[in-house]
Amino acid sequence: MKHSVVADISGRADLEVVLRRFYTAAFADRRIGPFFTDLAGTDLDAHLPRITDFWERALFRTAHYRRDAFAPHAALHAARSMTAADFGRWVQLWTAAVDGLHRGPNAERAKAQGERIALALHKRLTGGDGDGPGPGPLRGEGRVGFVPLAAVELRSAA
Ligand code: HEM
Repeated sequence: MKHSVVADISGRADLEVVLRRFYTAAFADRRIGPFFTDLAGTDLDAHLPRITDFWERALFRTAHYRRDAFAPHAALHAARSMTAADFGRWVQLWTAAVDGLHRGPNAERAKAQGERIALALHKRLTGGDGDGPGPGPLRGEGRVGFVPLAAVELRSAA
């Protein structure tokens, strides 16, 4: 039997391909696409280098990313609630993009971190569980599984 070799994510060049694939799917998605296309008016060619820096830093520590990743989501959420289902869809598309191209420890870390950051973002935006009105200043803190976005970014090389 023939075995096709699917390589792990090995650096920035791989991330560029995965991310373009992910954002192409995300922009076209009926659920989360409008956040990019209608609400933010995202320019993919401007977004991709930044998000590649973000992921290159998260996975390999070989890039600098000093921008505020939370602020654009807070602005979006104020314009239209970003729900658990929206974040769930994001995770589904991210998983599909990674799995479609790579296999290995870095691919697993990319998926796990995407999921953790999605959870942290959602909790920080909504102040706790579900899609409640939030934010309560301390809701969510001390709860098992709660990871502030900043901490996720700092710990992400682990
Ligand atoms: C439903 C889920 C999400 C939606 C709809 C969404 C949408 C957006 C939009 C519209 C922007 C602004 C892009 C622009 O500059 O026009 C943005 C920025 C960003 N997003 Fe998300 N996002 C989601 C989840 C996530 C998750 C889970 C991560 C973590 C991996 C993430 C990482 C980022 C980062 C790092 C930026 C900032 C890029 C910069 O430096 O400007 N997003 N997002």
